[in-house]
Amino acid sequence: MKLLIINGPNLNMLGIREPGIYGKENYETLVKMIGDYCTKKGIEVEFYQSNHEGDLVDAIQGAYGKMDGIVINPAAYTHTSVALLDAVKAVGLPTVEVHISDVSKREDFRQISYIRAACVQTICGHGTKGYLAAIDYLEAHYAG
Ligand code: DQA
Repeated sequence: MKLLIINGPNLNMLGIREPGIYGKENYETLVKMIGDYCTKKGIEVEFYQSNHEGDLVDAIQGAYGKMDGIVINPAAYTHTSVALLDAVKAVGLPTVEVHISDVSKREDFRQISYIRAACVQTICGHGTKGYLAAIDYLEAHYAG
């Protein structure tokens, strides 16, 4: 099983950015935690982070025919991007939406998620451990 882990804008600033909301771990620590978790499970994993919407669309399209699933934290593009929604629909890969914070308890503008309609699951408010829960979900989904 091969998974692509996509992180959107400002998630490269983890650890520096609003640590009271997003925690003190940096992006490299997140990548290592997920990588170690997948190694233990025998899952192949690739990572992609970008601050640019079109690059995120390209990464989703690039997963077609190569990956068995996607874990995506689209960050602010969650609340604005029809292009990311359409990309996930286009590739048809099982995709889990992850948010580190509990977006349901935050500002009104964070209550909308465009991508959610194309995702098999949403996990939010579990910190960076939410990515591991997303991997578990996709593993179970893959096993059928
Ligand atoms: C986020 C929540 C979004 O509203 C925000 O724009 C982010 C991060 C999260 O992981 O909690 O950048 O996706």
